[in-house]
Amino acid sequence: MQDKVPAGLDRKEAEVYRRLDPQQLPKHIAIIMDGNGRWAKRRHMPRVAGHRAGVIAVRSTVETAARIHIKALTLYAFSEENWKKRPKSEVDFLMRLLSRYLQAEVSTLNKNNIRLEYIGRQHELPEDVQQRMAWAREATSRNSGMVLTLALNYSARSELVDAFRSMVNAASQNGGIEHLKIDEDAVARHLYTSYLPDPDLVVRTSGEMRLSNFLLWQLAYAEIYVTPTLWPDFRGLQLMEGIAEYQKRERRYGGLNHGDGHADSDHGKVHS
Ligand code: FPP
Repeated sequence: MQDKVPAGLDRKEAEVYRRLDPQQLPKHIAIIMDGNGRWAKRRHMPRVAGHRAGVIAVRSTVETAARIHIKALTLYAFSEENWKKRPKSEVDFLMRLLSRYLQAEVSTLNKNNIRLEYIGRQHELPEDVQQRMAWAREATSRNSGMVLTLALNYSARSELVDAFRSMVNAASQNGGIEHLKIDEDAVARHLYTSYLPDPDLVVRTSGEMRLSNFLLWQLAYAEIYVTPTLWPDFRGLQLMEGIAEYQKRERRYGGLNHGDGHADSDHGKVHS
């Protein structure tokens, strides 16, 4: 369908890219990265080896997404539940891995014009990690290409609770609670993701068929693509296969045909 292949894609990625319609790329892709533990177990390695290998998958996916001009990519890195249910040694390892990833990756993010953002209750993360996160965000804040959002200590239900609290606070500072007006746009404006359009496509690796408390409001109309690939084996190529599958589907948004109802309803946010 497409002859002009963006620079930097390898041969296999270029092959899939030629089958894509560049006018119909998803603007925002969200990914539930899953299967690091199973990947490691199959190799008789400790779970943390799966997380380490997961970083290579993150790097490849981010770079390919930026190269094919996806506007926004959101990665579910740590859920709020992760902290409570995993051994402290694994959580500590994940924190160090994140810190090292940020330190190592900022120059590549800048080279690829990628801006870094975070969603989740950041204030509950270790102080040194928060500082590293703030540094990396600031260091990439002038980039105008893809927005890479890392969901860290994230829970969709907590996000909704925080949004409702934020609406009430805003109303009390603006003439009192009796002026509180709640509609869908108001809720969306108070979500952590207020700077993003809703995802068009959500990818989950390792074959699980759950949303696991991820972007529950924002994924209302998203296409869901589940791949059996475990996260450490995921690469830009698998992302593009997900996009190819997305483009085969007809999106109706509750209407009768493409373009009805909510089509392109990203409320004029940062990405056109
Ligand atoms: C799910 O696998 C993965 C995680 C909870 C952590 C995700 C972290 C990374 C991919 C690496 C670090 C991330 C960044 C952004 C640098 P699991 O452990 O739940 O796997 P399992 O279900 O097979 O046990």
